[in-house]
Parts: sequence; structure tokens; C-alpha cells
Amino acid sequence: MNPAQRDELFAWFERYVEPFRDTDPEGRINIQLKIDHTRKVCAAMAELCEGEQLSPSESTLAVVVALLHDVGRFPQYRRWRTFRDSDSDNHARLAIEVLREERLLEACSPEEQLLIEEAIRFHNLLELPKAITSPTRRYIDLIRDADKLDIWRVFVDLLEQPPKERASAATLGLPDLPDMVTDSCVTALAAGRIVRLDTATCFNDFKLMQISWIYDLNSVTARKLLRKRGYIPILAATLPQQDRVKSAVAQALAALSA
Ligand SMILES: [Fe+2]
Repeated sequence: MNPAQRDELFAWFERYVEPFRDTDPEGRINIQLKIDHTRKVCAAMAELCEGEQLSPSESTLAVVVALLHDVGRFPQYRRWRTFRDSDSDNHARLAIEVLREERLLEACSPEEQLLIEEAIRFHNLLELPKAITSPTRRYIDLIRDADKLDIWRVFVDLLEQPPKERASAATLGLPDLPDMVTDSCVTALAAGRIVRLDTATCFNDFKLMQISWIYDLNSVTARKLLRKRGYIPILAATLPQQDRVKSAVAQALAALSA
């Protein structure tokens, strides 16, 4: 992958997403959310590559993984009007379908094609199979970190908006009940485990899940960026101020600073 190939893929992305904007106002906000997310994951990836001292060619490949990791979101939203995989289809699988249909990686070596597809396929798994020790592992770890860094940004921005202006699909249809948290989600966070999306029943649980991602960051640079960006205290401030919630959050923040 050379810089010219990378630039061509960036130009392809802009062309590819354009027709998806042609929908109703609610749909346009949701599509725009994923366009902005992709651009910002690319920027976060560039920061991670610098911090983790990847070579220029490794960084080019990593940024391409970032560019393509969520292309499945566009056909997913057009077909099902949701970003919830469990109500539609796995968006990582859909992304690979797009890459193949569009013959995007034909100019890449077979090794690079495999690496890009693998990194995308594993970017959204709750837990990675321990067996992945191939060279792809590094890129999987990086895309998972870059993706989370920007998902935190999306939600912090969203919380600042009046509920009516929020991208409707971003909260996955979870009801925003200010005083409610689900016991099992608080318990998981307090135990230092990832809160599972399928256990979330309200928007606050979703915030607990996002806080629990602290326990799933791979690189020192991602932890540093998360501390610098200050997303977790902002998310935590919007949770019900119950003792067990506060103590689970404090523990996660302490783990982030350790
Ligand atoms: Fe993403």
C-alpha cells in the first residue's frame, strides 16, 4: 500500500457515501454521523500510529483500515434504518462485502488484502479470539482503540445536544431514563469487565458500557489520548449519582490512570 493508493481510497470513500445522503432529514443526520466518525477514526488512527511509532508504510495501511472499517454502516442504515447489528446484520461483514463488490483492494498484495479484511472483520467483536497472533493482530488492536476513541467523542457531543437534535440511530433505540441503571451493568463495570450491549436496557447502561471500554484498550497511546480528551468524566457526570455507580466509575478511572 503506497500513499497514492491510500489517497485513491480516500477519494473513493467520498464518492461512495454521497448517494447515501439522499434520504430524509433524520436519515441524513445518521449517515453524516458515520461519515464524520470515519474521518475522525482516521485522524485518531494517525495519532495512534505516531504514538506507537509505526513505520510510514505500516501507518498508511493502518489508516486505510480505519477508512474502511465502517463502510458497512451505509448499506446497513439504508436497508434497515438502524446501526444495531442484532436487529440487522453484522456491519463488519457488510463492510467486507462492500470491499469485494467495489473491488477496492485489487491493487493490493494478497497479504495486505487479507490483513485489511481481517482487521475489519474483528474490529467490532466483544472479545477477540486468543488465537489471533498473526501480523494482523497489531492492526486489529489499533482499529479497536481508534474506533473507541471516536465513539466516546460521538457520545460526548451527543450529550451536549438537545435530545431532539441527536442522531436517532446513535443511541440504538435505548430509552433515556435519567435515574435508571441496570444492576448487571453496574456489577460488570465494578468487576472490571466489559458491559455487554445485549444487557443494556437504557441509555445509562450504554454509558456504563462505554466507560467499561477502558478495560479493553490496547495501546499506551490510546490510554494517554483518552485521559487527555477527558471523555470519561463527562460521560460519568450524566449518570445517576448512586454510590455503587460512582464507585464503579472511580475504579475505572483509577485503572485508566494506572
Ligand atoms: Fe467505527
